[in-house]
Formats: sequence, structure tokens, C-alpha cells
Amino acid sequence: MALSLTAIHERFGVEVHDIQLAGLTDEGFADIRDAFERHSLLLFRNQTIDDATHIALAKRFGAIENRQDMTLKADADFKVPTVSNLTKNGTVADESDLQTLNLKANMLWHCDSTFLPIPALTNILIARTVTKEKGHTEFATSRAGWADMPEVMKNKLRGRMARHHYAHSRARISEELSKLPEFNKWPERSWKTVWTNPVTGDEALYLASHAFAIEGMDAEEGSQLIDEALGFVTQPEYVYAHAWREDDVVIWDQRAVLHRATPWNYNEPRKLSSICVSASSEDGLDLMRSIG
Ligand SMILES: [Fe+2]
Repeated sequence: MALSLTAIHERFGVEVHDIQLAGLTDEGFADIRDAFERHSLLLFRNQTIDDATHIALAKRFGAIENRQDMTLKADADFKVPTVSNLTKNGTVADESDLQTLNLKANMLWHCDSTFLPIPALTNILIARTVTKEKGHTEFATSRAGWADMPEVMKNKLRGRMARHHYAHSRARISEELSKLPEFNKWPERSWKTVWTNPVTGDEALYLASHAFAIEGMDAEEGSQLIDEALGFVTQPEYVYAHAWREDDVVIWDQRAVLHRATPWNYNEPRKLSSICVSASSEDGLDLMRSIG
């Protein structure tokens, strides 16, 4: 079965038509996985998909990331995480709340979970409650950006490891936020600065707002290089801004795409369901752990 695809950006991303993700066959998933490897971002509109189907879809990509317990094998207690400004009692969080500040930290370009022992392969986001305007999620192709990057900048990055820590991206928004235990649970992690897709052979820049230093490089020089490289691959020609409609599903390749949230009127509720899937050796993870 060939998928019906239309491009949503010149360099990456496709909308997939005429498919319901609930009730996906193995053959249908194989086509989706292939499109994921090649196009890096997939958009599906008008999906009827509950939490159980969301979980089942995520499991087809690999092991579901469970931050409550990274070592948990059984996922009976897994609850689908949400990205939202709604508080536990259903009201909208105040703009100065730590919950809102944390959402603001998501407005820095990043890939998910580079601070965890295993980073994410993908995030499957579903729009549950959307705002009338704004609140787009922006995506940047770090694959096309890397392909176009001047050799002089590439040569500084090749064969290097970047150091990542969750508190670093939070400290850029608020010192108070960065000191919360949830952002200091995991020791820093180092990943190679370039991720090669084992299926297509494409390389992509692998850095994020959580990256604070380059191993073997002077602190200031390293953080400047991180900012310059992120700045290069997030130039407007590499960016697709997604305007959410309810029941949209977006699935993207964290190895080849950076993303960030954008602001909205915080008096309006906004809720996305989000499941990250951890990368595996088949996704090229082992090669990211050290220079060799
Ligand atoms: Fe994110």
C-alpha cells in the first residue's frame, strides 16, 4: 500500500492522507516508519485516537519513555503525559507559575530527552485542546540545515561530544525553575553532535537547548559554537510552523528535527498529549555514545 503524501515544507515533512492511525495494520505501519525515516516529520489530520491507541501506536516505534521510572519494564501504570497550561484542578496556570515558566523553557529549540540515559527517537503529539490563534509548534530540519552548513562550522563539530543537562535549558528561563528536583534528577549526558540515520545514511546536527558544553573545548568557545550551530539550522528556511487543529497528530524524528513551542494567550487553555519513544541501537543510538 503506497501512502498518499503531500509536502508541507520544501526540505522536510509530509502530510499523510486517507489513513486512520487507530486500526493501523502492520503493513500500514511499515509504510509510516519508512516515511518517518525519509521525511522526518509526519502530519495526520482528523484522527480519532484515544490514549490506549496513542500508546499502542507509540509502542510500534519502540520502548515508551517513562520518566517516572526509566527502568520500569511493565507499563501498567503509564499515564499519557500532557503538555498544558491547565492545572490539576482544571484552572489555567498563571503566567508567572513555574508550570508556565517550564512551558516557556520548551520555547527554546531542542530535541526531547537528550538529558536522559536514553534520548527520544520520536514524540507523538496529539492536539486535544487548541487555542484560537498562536501556540504553534515550530520544527526545524537539522538534517537539511546540517547539509547546508559551511564546512568550517561542520569541521568544528565533527567527531565531538556535546554535554547535556536538563537544568541548563531551565536556567535560561529562570534560576528558580532550574533548581527544582525534577530538573536535577539525571546526571549530565554526552552525545555526539551529529546523528547518522542508519536507514538512509543522512546526517543531522544533534544539539539542543539542554547542551551546555562541547567536550575538549574551552567552555566559552563550546557554548558559542552550540549557539551558532543551533542558530544556523533554525534559520527560517529550515523551519515549519505547525498551526494546530484539534485531532491533529504530529510524529517527528528527534534525530533530525529540532522543535520549540511558541507563545499564546495564557488565559486560553491548550492541551497536547505527548508520548516519547526512546531511541534504540537500531536507530543508531550506540554510535552516539562515544567517538569511535
Ligand atoms: Fe519538546
